[in-house]
Amino acid sequence: MLKLDKVDVYYGAIQALRGVSIKVDEGKVVSLIGANGAGKTTTLKTVIGLLKPKKGKVIYKGENIAHLSSHKRVKMGISIVPEGRRIFSRLTVLENLMIGAYTREDKGIKDDLNFVMDLFPILRERENQLAGTLSGGEQQMLAIARALMGRPELLLMDEPSLGLAPNIVIEVYKTIKEINKRGVTILLVEQNVNMAQRVSSYMYVLENGIVNISGTPQNVVSLDEIKKAYLGG
Ligand SMILES: Nc1ncnc2c1ncn2[C@@H]1O[C@H](COP(=O)(O)OP(=O)(O)O)[C@@H](O)[C@H]1O
Ligand SMILES: [Mg+2]
Repeated sequence: MLKLDKVDVYYGAIQALRGVSIKVDEGKVVSLIGANGAGKTTTLKTVIGLLKPKKGKVIYKGENIAHLSSHKRVKMGISIVPEGRRIFSRLTVLENLMIGAYTREDKGIKDDLNFVMDLFPILRERENQLAGTLSGGEQQMLAIARALMGRPELLLMDEPSLGLAPNIVIEVYKTIKEINKRGVTILLVEQNVNMAQRVSSYMYVLENGIVNISGTPQNVVSLDEIKKAYLGG
């Protein structure tokens, strides 16, 4: 469904991605793990179109979309749950959700509101509450629900566990599994390798803008260097 082919991305003179190639098959959860500053967010921004590669291809459903606007990509079925959630604190839960549907012109918005509120009942309860008053976990749920309002086929998730208590992280991961079960392909970015490995069918490890290691979760987490760097020994 998605393929990055030898992608180079720069911020001015600084190269952030070096020949990154990854593949996400339809229906799967694939994760991209790496330390702070490795280039994970840069990779997702390149997929959604907020950054353009200097070299390489971004192939989505067989088409090179590297030159397309972000808006077009959203219309083609790609959504992002950004790092740090980025919800609008001074808007209500419902208003935040409607923003997620802004590219839509069809009449399915009401159905999708029902769909995400069934998935996250707390959002129905808090529909008219200001988003800034939600807990961290609830805000993460809202950010995920907002992305789902774009009715994505491919969902990009940038460190959904960041800053959340362990029991809330488990809740968030339950919903990731559920969303995937409902047919949404997921590219998951994480530093929490322990959680990512539980839901992924394949993992890529990004270090200083380069993918050197990839494989099934079992294979990747059994490597000494991964255990040391991400799993506490
Ligand atoms: N707006 C920016 N301008 C310049 N350099 C940036 C910018 N954003 C990120 N970088 C640099 O690009 C590299 C990758 O960053 P990022 O993709 O955010 O990493 P990660 O998400 O894995 O923590 C880092 O060295 C970071 O300092
Ligand atoms: Mg990041």
